[in-house]
Amino acid sequence: MSGQKIGIVGSGLIGRAWAMLFASAGYRVQLYDILESQVTTALAELRKELQQLESKGRLRGELSAERQYALISGCIQLEQLVQDALHIQECVPEQLELKRSLYAQLDELLEPQTVVASSTSTFMPSLYTEPLKRRSQMLVAHPLNPPYFIPLVELVPAPWTNTEAVERTRTLMLALGQRPVVLKREIQGFATNRIQYAILNEVWRLVAAGIISVADADRVLSDGLGMRYALMGSLETAHLNAPGGVSDYFQRFGGEIAAVSATYGPTPNVCAESETLAEIARQCEQLVPLEALGQRRAARDEFLTRLSELKRQLP
Ligand code: NAI
Repeated sequence: MSGQKIGIVGSGLIGRAWAMLFASAGYRVQLYDILESQVTTALAELRKELQQLESKGRLRGELSAERQYALISGCIQLEQLVQDALHIQECVPEQLELKRSLYAQLDELLEPQTVVASSTSTFMPSLYTEPLKRRSQMLVAHPLNPPYFIPLVELVPAPWTNTEAVERTRTLMLALGQRPVVLKREIQGFATNRIQYAILNEVWRLVAAGIISVADADRVLSDGLGMRYALMGSLETAHLNAPGGVSDYFQRFGGEIAAVSATYGPTPNVCAESETLAEIARQCEQLVPLEALGQRRAARDEFLTRLSELKRQLP
């Protein structure tokens, strides 16, 4: 399928990342934005970024940075973007009304072979595709930032999404070297944020109860659970942690899991518990002052880059 055309709507942070991923696998990429200046800036930034990745030996794919860049072009007409597109990746800001109006426009222009995937982190696809003629060709393909170094993509169908559209998107993501997971049906928060919020809720409760500091609660993940989770998930971890595998694990530890789970208490109201939030912010800012956030993000991205390289060497 490489060589075919991919359309990207929205040339911000995530749109640019997708452009690099598709070009790395040899697809022709067209970037569309409502602002012409945004497209021009995006193309210039992409060229710089591809060259930097190449000079550090971190460029993905077989093609040189210049050849990958040559596969990417810009446009400011949606009509032009949809023409002959195999796949369109939507990356406009996270505003429901904006997504609704864009999808209504796309609905009038889409060709029958094109699948449209949204990068949305929060909106279930039924929220903005229900009334559309071509809704069976639409789904969510949610990446994690930075997508160039974090391979997960969550594929989330609406109740009317065609199974072929899901399967085609899954195959396309694999061709990019990403790791798609498929939800059988849509659910608020998809899988990633549901699991992430379960962790945030419990960390919040432990800090609010004065049981652990912010630094130590985060260390439980970064120096403990996260070390394993970078390689395998919670169920495989359980499978490996009992001589008879996962059934044995839940038989041995099920009672303890249920007993601890019964003590969690209600879901914290993180918007309203302002005292706890102030305390968490105070401790976080002691660890990383606001003016050092940029530096800390850069360190995280550098680490993620190396981790993704390491993971590629593992079976
Ligand atoms: P962004 O603000 O960096 O970029 C959005 C781009 O869309 C801008 O270039 C803007 O000019 C353009 N735009 C606005 N209205 C448009 C329209 N009607 N037609 C075409 N282009 C339009 O936003 P970002 O961060 O790239 O987010 C895009 C999507 O990706 C959102 O749905 C977001 O939830 C999702 N996402 C973001 C992540 C992140 O960490 N930033 C992670 C995973 C998903």
